[in-house]
Amino acid sequence: MALLEWKAEYSVGNVAIDHEHELMIRHINTLYEQINNTAGNDATSVEAVLGEIHADISAHFALEERLMRQARYGEYEEHKEDHEDLLDQIHDLIDAFYQDPAVGEQRLKSRLSGWFGRHFSSFDSRLHRQLG
Ligand SMILES: [Fe+2]
Ligand SMILES: [Fe+2]
Repeated sequence: MALLEWKAEYSVGNVAIDHEHELMIRHINTLYEQINNTAGNDATSVEAVLGEIHADISAHFALEERLMRQARYGEYEEHKEDHEDLLDQIHDLIDAFYQDPAVGEQRLKSRLSGWFGRHFSSFDSRLHRQLG
């Protein structure tokens, strides 16, 4: 089963942005599958895949942050802080995978889906309502 599923609550009310978020989620799923496809599920591959997921999400955040800076968007600092909070959480999860891959996967799944559900419907929704 895929790591993440698209949920209605992820919608920011802008078709183009929803599509972008959906592509990001699909890409995260594809990257994550590599962990299950790697024989032995060794620590190096877990770290590499989590690193790629981290980079993928970072790239999306960097685009949004540039958009906010260009528009001198008022909620820039808080929005950026929330992005950084998720990136930190992904880093922290590497340890959980080392200790127990099943627990690590469960934690990654719930952290990402919880964070996306909250962030997309609050910060991103406000941002894209104002800037399109
Ligand atoms: Fe976003
Ligand atoms: Fe955002």
